[in-house]
Amino acid sequence: MKIQNGTIWKDTEGNVLHAHGGHILKHEGVYYWYGEDRRDNLYVSCYASEDLVNWSLRRHVLRTDSPVRETRVRADLHLVHEDGSKVNIERPKVLYNEKTGKFVMWMHYENGRDYRCAAAAVATCDTPDGDFVYHGSFNPYGEMSRDCTLFRDGEKAYFLSASRDNADMHMYLLQEDWLNVERFTANFWQGEYREAPAVVKRGDLYYILSSFCTGWAPNQGKYAAARCLEQGFGFQREIGDETTYHSQPAFILKLEGTEETSYIYVGDRWNGKDYFDSRYVWFPLEFGEDGSVRMIPCDELEIDAETGRVRAL
Ligand code: GAL
Repeated sequence: MKIQNGTIWKDTEGNVLHAHGGHILKHEGVYYWYGEDRRDNLYVSCYASEDLVNWSLRRHVLRTDSPVRETRVRADLHLVHEDGSKVNIERPKVLYNEKTGKFVMWMHYENGRDYRCAAAAVATCDTPDGDFVYHGSFNPYGEMSRDCTLFRDGEKAYFLSASRDNADMHMYLLQEDWLNVERFTANFWQGEYREAPAVVKRGDLYYILSSFCTGWAPNQGKYAAARCLEQGFGFQREIGDETTYHSQPAFILKLEGTEETSYIYVGDRWNGKDYFDSRYVWFPLEFGEDGSVRMIPCDELEIDAETGRVRAL
């Protein structure tokens, strides 16, 4: 099966696929792709696939009229303003917590008018593709929190987000139900202005990819590797070209097949003038024994979700 990078992708009904800034979660043999859906009263949509190529729309899982419920965390519960205008939800990520049986979504929240809220928001659901219940937005430990990602390491989960007006990257360990941050574990890349973080583990090493801060315009991607996640990431090296092949990280898909484990960089090729004309690119990542990472740009990617084999064409 092949995907065509940089073209408009359609779901199995022939409609444009709306899943930017997103994340893929595998649950009981099915891949669920969550991402931004900025149309009408929508915020996040969820698509499902077994082959990673054909995606069917399951539900608009977060909308202006989504159910809202307070948790123990004091938060701003508004999903819409009094005048009916939308807030802004970006970069939704979802993990499944076996202890609570909940699918937990973290995202970046703004008021839809500017980027000054710089907040994290949380929602949960009993099924991967049901109506998510919104639990509100807050500033973790009072800190700014913009471009974000979730990363699961065994039973632990971490939330990472750009802070201090994007100058630094923060990492938090989540509490055991993943509904709140537990501990501020690391503050790294001070003054380096990185965003769009994406984390993956391979062997003993944790890797992070990120972009520089230039809004919708693409820039030089970088990566860093660490042995101890909780200490954060240090020195970054460049990956891809000066525009990361015209893309910005959304997440890294670890594809564990029957024969191979492959790592796919999923990037957004934004159109800053027309958001809805933004595209996706999926590029294989190649890892060196010395901790280096290479991105393999391609127009087409052949994927075999069963064996785990991917090939850049
Ligand atoms: C980018 C960021 C996107 C979105 C955009 C808005 O830098 O990665 O998620 O927030 O800015 O300009």
